[in-house]
Amino acid sequence: MSELVRRPDDDSNTHCTPQQYEEMYRRSVEEPDAFWAEQAQRIDWIKMPTKIADWSFDPVDIKWFADGELNICHNAVDRHVEAGRGGDVALIFEPDDPAGDVRRITYAELQRETARMANALKKLGVAKGDRVTIYMPMVPEGAMAMLACARIGAVHSVIFGGFSPEAIAGRIEDCASDWVVTADEGLRGGKPIPLKANVDAALDKVSAKGVLVLRHTGGEVAMHEGRDHWYHEFAADLSEECPCEPMKAEDPLFILYTSGSTGKPKGVLHTTGGYAVWTETTFRYVFDYRPGEIYWCTADIGWVTGHSYIVYGPLLNGATALMFEGVPNWPDASRFWQVCDKHRVNIFYTAPTAIRALMREGKGPVEKHNLSTLRLLGSVGEPINPEAWRWYHDTVGGGRIPIVDTWWQTETGGVMITTLPHAHDMKPGSAGKPFFGIRPQLVDSEGEVLEGASEGNLCITHSWPGQARTVYGDHERFVQTYFSTYRGKYFTGDGCRRDADGYYWITGRVDDVINVSGHRMGTAEVESALVLHGKVSEAAVVGYPHDIKGQGIYCYVTLNSGIEPSAELEDELRKWVRKEIGPIATPDHLHFTPALPKTRSGKIMRRILRKIAENDYGALGDTSTLADPGVAEDLIEGRRNR
Ligand code: PRX
Repeated sequence: MSELVRRPDDDSNTHCTPQQYEEMYRRSVEEPDAFWAEQAQRIDWIKMPTKIADWSFDPVDIKWFADGELNICHNAVDRHVEAGRGGDVALIFEPDDPAGDVRRITYAELQRETARMANALKKLGVAKGDRVTIYMPMVPEGAMAMLACARIGAVHSVIFGGFSPEAIAGRIEDCASDWVVTADEGLRGGKPIPLKANVDAALDKVSAKGVLVLRHTGGEVAMHEGRDHWYHEFAADLSEECPCEPMKAEDPLFILYTSGSTGKPKGVLHTTGGYAVWTETTFRYVFDYRPGEIYWCTADIGWVTGHSYIVYGPLLNGATALMFEGVPNWPDASRFWQVCDKHRVNIFYTAPTAIRALMREGKGPVEKHNLSTLRLLGSVGEPINPEAWRWYHDTVGGGRIPIVDTWWQTETGGVMITTLPHAHDMKPGSAGKPFFGIRPQLVDSEGEVLEGASEGNLCITHSWPGQARTVYGDHERFVQTYFSTYRGKYFTGDGCRRDADGYYWITGRVDDVINVSGHRMGTAEVESALVLHGKVSEAAVVGYPHDIKGQGIYCYVTLNSGIEPSAELEDELRKWVRKEIGPIATPDHLHFTPALPKTRSGKIMRRILRKIAENDYGALGDTSTLADPGVAEDLIEGRRNR
């Protein structure tokens, strides 16, 4: 029996009571057009849409609010100023160094600075529809760069600062992006991150017409004459006014690269109108945001969580969002709680991996700080184990405030399954109930629909406004990846259990994607990186349970003949993967083996590799189809000795 944690007593300020949830959910699935037309009223449209839902999953063609026109930057920034809220704080910047300068950026200032940056992009030559790569630290200018693109109708492609030059080059090339916005360096835990140097190395491989460089740390960087411009010089004389470009609802807003089970990362494409309505609505209800509250999401703007719930969702709601440059455990393990205390944070949204890491440090670092302003906690990115949930609830939340465990994906644009803070009781470890308009379905491997309490593969049967529309430049890949496993349904790639109360429990990926500290990593990507190394013959990569990261990266590697395994080579390969993909892909285990377990037809038996990596030798199952059953025994022996 799972535990039920009661929601806080009715709160007269809430956006959604239990009765309202039932009523709104019913309407959202029975009359989606009427429901979403109503939610869309909170957006300022240049041309009000008359068409609402217009989609098909077979063939795949997804549109929402198709004849509407709007500008999302106007909605996130200008309209709050026009409504007399220009003095409200939009972004609070807390720097990496606890003694550094806090910045408070009002909506009026955000409007001026975003317009100036938009003018800088225009001066560089960026036009509507062009792709702009953003590779920035967690500073307000990162959000401004995204908004500036949206303002002039350019499509942003943000790349997380932990990705390598190789990865940047691949993404720049894939979406043919001619412009890059970056900074001299980032700072994390006191250490500089060489952002500009990484961009330079990427641009040795692919070309760009212009690079805008924010001076952030003041670190030395090379500037390429004619291509690179210091932002503060380039924009110094530019106007703080720039009109918002009218955009069609289905015009592209951004591309965000994400890992899948095969091939290189996909450029997931989101469009303007549906994404605006979806992030506005989900932020409002999931976080139950009230004016004046301080909201903090610890994600990076390089991930979808940062896009939807640091930048667009909060700003569309006129909220005050905190942007934190640092890391949870520097200078010590109380940093998160110190920031919550210092800025009187009301809503705190983080990932289970951070909670688990901080839980290890005990109550001390939490109790040093006054967390009495907290009203709501959130979790995202991976399943949260009940133990971590408990600690988060009791120690951080003082046992008095709700947790929203929000399940969603880069492709879904915003939260899909969660409890709402005052509408649902919580079950530690369960994401909860579908958000408005979301119709989850569990199917077995044959595609049979499972009813009632059951466990299977999680699909969504009907489109929602925030759904990704395609993979940039490769619609066929979009169709293949998400709509071909179960024809006519969106397949999430996640396994899931539904209990008798209709609560959903995400059990993790069922494909070859692993989730490392809440970051999605394609095992095929790590394998491709390994086999690029001259000494590696073959590689097979699987995930295994990791106490802090959720899953770790376990690599089986066979070497070319004549090459001997060694600690030096292990180190070399680790560095190699970091260089090819980035530090987030650093292998936890490198297991050299003379051979991989294969069927007689030469297919690698990943199931066996997963079990061995998990130290679960009793459950290897049928190994009789292996070409050489001895391989599995050798691998077990090797695993035991690690
Ligand atoms: O496996 C699910 C897991 O993260 C995947 C999506 O990763 P990404 O596109 O990088 O987006 C992460 C942030 C939205 C999902 O397929 N996941 C995300 N949130 C949860 C989760 N698993 C369980 N519970 C969650 N709350």
